[in-house]
Amino acid sequence: MSQLRLGDIAPDFTAVTTSGSIHFHQWLGDSWGVLFSHPADFTPVCTTELGTVAKFKAEFDKRNVKVIALSVDPIDSHHEWVKDIEETQQTTVNFPIIADADKKVSSLYDMIHPNASDKLTVRSVFIIGPDKKIKLILTYPASTGRNFYELLRVIDSLQLTAYQQLATPANWNEGEDVVIAPAVSNEEAEKRFPGFKTVKPYLRYTQAPKK
Ligand code: BEZ
Repeated sequence: MSQLRLGDIAPDFTAVTTSGSIHFHQWLGDSWGVLFSHPADFTPVCTTELGTVAKFKAEFDKRNVKVIALSVDPIDSHHEWVKDIEETQQTTVNFPIIADADKKVSSLYDMIHPNASDKLTVRSVFIIGPDKKIKLILTYPASTGRNFYELLRVIDSLQLTAYQQLATPANWNEGEDVVIAPAVSNEEAEKRFPGFKTVKPYLRYTQAPKK
């Protein structure tokens, strides 16, 4: 598989998961998706990550996002580990975990980086839009647990800017002002974003449109 890039169609697959067999694109339907890999079952950082994602379910649901995890451990191991996650993180694992023992999906998504580990997946994240195109790719090392607030923040930005010529500045959070894309002329901006503020001709702020 050649390297995946933003804007590419997320490769489709069928896989065994803790929620049964899943045909990825069909399972996504019209939702946004987050596909994320972790190195191995029964490891500390992964246990906290999957517990955190389970607790964030209402936030993902609110944004019409389906979440699916992956590691190369087999399905029986996943089922056993889920019990530990639920016990130690005081939650219910409410999303599927792919058992990618044959490394089919991790190869498709280039989640094994041999110079980090030739056997285990790194911590990859793919955000996928309802058009099945890849909107974000992140790669973290095994030793660093991800910040899932950041993923929600990116999803908010992607959903805000998907259909309008807007973008979100550094450290932006929902409710804060956004910037107008350079391709929008001032005349057009006046019509679409009345009262926008010009700091420099290329740096124009406006209120985030109501959802
Ligand atoms: C962890 O999830 O804790 C972990 C997994 C693989 C290597 C290092 C840490």
